[in-house]
Amino acid sequence: MPKTSVVKKIEIYRLGKTTSTNEVAKTLAQDKKEDFAVVAEEQTEGRGRKDRSWVSPPGGLYLSLCTGKEPILSLKASLAVAKTLEDLGIIPSLKWPNDVMVRDKKICGILVEVLEKKAIVGIGLNIETAPLKDSICLSALLDEPVSKERLIKDIIENFSNLENMMDTYRGYSSTIGRLVKIKTPSRILEGRVKDIDEKGRLVLDDGRKVMAGDVIHLRKNSDRYVFHRKRYDTLTD
Ligand code: BTN
Repeated sequence: MPKTSVVKKIEIYRLGKTTSTNEVAKTLAQDKKEDFAVVAEEQTEGRGRKDRSWVSPPGGLYLSLCTGKEPILSLKASLAVAKTLEDLGIIPSLKWPNDVMVRDKKICGILVEVLEKKAIVGIGLNIETAPLKDSICLSALLDEPVSKERLIKDIIENFSNLENMMDTYRGYSSTIGRLVKIKTPSRILEGRVKDIDEKGRLVLDDGRKVMAGDVIHLRKNSDRYVFHRKRYDTLTD
């Protein structure tokens, strides 16, 4: 496998077409002790959360980072992507737990898979195509194309530099303050989101806490998350 560059001491393995960068990274993780990344031009078996597939044609960014295990890795990865997009002049928001959104459409998804000693953080970012309804891509938002190399470097650097990031994450959240429906493996809840706590759990205003699930924002977003970054505790729908 060609090994072509290093960012923040992280070796990056480059592939053309592959099944899934997460799968490749999982196999490599058995031999390698250091953190590394795998990038592909195209995936034939791209995977999303909850056993969904991730449509992965050429023109997208498919990146898997093999890193140490730590809590809230998926929130951290989504924040690293949001910061990368913001540096390009885009206004992103984060829909809990880890969807990166622009103009209420999904631009990036994150799939974290935990191994015995390591974790694989898979990042799928739409660059030239938005394969699904309600998705958006970078080229629809930018006048000039952005290089994939820059995106890879910035995402890895932002990810490596984030520590104690929940306050920052909250500032990008479009879920805090919203009325939501949450589908967990065992139940469906509705309520207003008061906060996202240090463990990355949704906290509803009646005190219920949710660790994992799919969230539906029950009312359409406006651009209020821009305001919300300053005063997320005062919002009402
Ligand atoms: C989701 O929103 O459902 C998560 C999508 C994650 C897709 C990325 S693309 C790179 C990595 N390889 C995969 O097979 N999946 C992740």
